[in-house]
Amino acid sequence: MTARSGSSRARSARGLPIGPGAPRLNVIGCGRAARVVAHLLCDRGMATPGALVNRGLASARAAARFVGGGSPVRTLAEAGAARLWLIGTPDDAIGEMAIALAASGLLRRGDRVFHLSGATPAEVLAPCRDAGAAVAAVHPVKNFSDPAMAVRSFRGTWCGCEGDARALRGLEAAFRALGARTFRIDPAWKPLYHGGGAFACNFLPVLIELALACEERAGVARSTALAMFEPIVRETIDAIFRQGVAPALAGPISRGDAGSVARHLAAMQRWDPAVAQTYRALARTAVGVVASLGRVAPDRLAATRAVIDAPARTPGREPRGPRLSATAGRRRATRRRPG
Ligand SMILES: NC(=O)c1ccc[n+]([C@@H]2O[C@H](COP(=O)([O-])OP(=O)(O)OC[C@H]3O[C@@H](n4cnc5c(N)ncnc54)[C@H](OP(=O)(O)O)[C@@H]3O)[C@@H](O)[C@H]2O)c1
Repeated sequence: MTARSGSSRARSARGLPIGPGAPRLNVIGCGRAARVVAHLLCDRGMATPGALVNRGLASARAAARFVGGGSPVRTLAEAGAARLWLIGTPDDAIGEMAIALAASGLLRRGDRVFHLSGATPAEVLAPCRDAGAAVAAVHPVKNFSDPAMAVRSFRGTWCGCEGDARALRGLEAAFRALGARTFRIDPAWKPLYHGGGAFACNFLPVLIELALACEERAGVARSTALAMFEPIVRETIDAIFRQGVAPALAGPISRGDAGSVARHLAAMQRWDPAVAQTYRALARTAVGVVASLGRVAPDRLAATRAVIDAPARTPGREPRGPRLSATAGRRRATRRRPG
């Protein structure tokens, strides 16, 4: 702990008080995301670690070690009072936890209760509001799969916030003091806002998985394929943030090369129609992205669209004879990268 010293009146830029006046923070569901937030708030002296309630005591103990303090407890009833409550369970359990917390008798007027979900409105915490607390949601747009790394890289994290003004005031300022960039999100649009994040981040590994499956089917060893894709994936991501989305799009659709798209689709249709269907859905959006640049002639774009929208043909046979060997794949990968 490196809690700052200071008077109980000291505030983190009008956020939560820092030092001896910092609120006790109880966490229900101290998993990957919540333990990072709890660690940061406590480490910077904006909260003092309180009770940690997980499904299992061993997990709550591990959370306490990570947070750097706090009391692992078996049940909510053992948690005791706290001025600040974080519900860090999976989204589907937040509502149930809010009801349990409201019914526990632990909440006092003026307490703040918040969750970290991007898909769930703060309103799910309404039972806690009815019990006198102010409620909010602060959604860090961040991957918490490696909590220790997330602590180190938290500065600069965008956080979508909504909820009761009384809860938001202190929380937004506290998160900004942690280096976060807070912004307001309309709760009615949270599912779509969060769904966008699924496209940007969650589906990136899924796209790579599909790419690896294609390579494996074509005879390129998975490890070779992963190594082969690393530079081009990194280059593409860099290009997106350096040049913009449309200019970063390479490959046949960006050239209006309808013949190649037709060959991709025919091969996928023969191998796995579900893969072909996914390709079609993504390719339709790709055509729109390319059209926005105005570089490819409209007739070529129309031809590409026609190939994508053509009814799926009855699958023929896959190619006969040996596919690429892993070594051949490796050699080929060093000579030529897919464009
Ligand atoms: N992970 C991310 O990258 C990320 C990013 C932004 C926001 N969020 C949000 O953060 C929240 C938590 O996500 P997460 O990925 O951190 O989840 P997680 O790692 O699975 O952690 C969930 C925690 O909740 C506990 N829990 C589950 N059911 C419980 C119950 N009935 N009572 C008490 N504790 C319970 C689990 O306890 P056990 O350990 O005992 O199983 C676990 O510690 C979600 O709202 C999510 O949308 C996550």
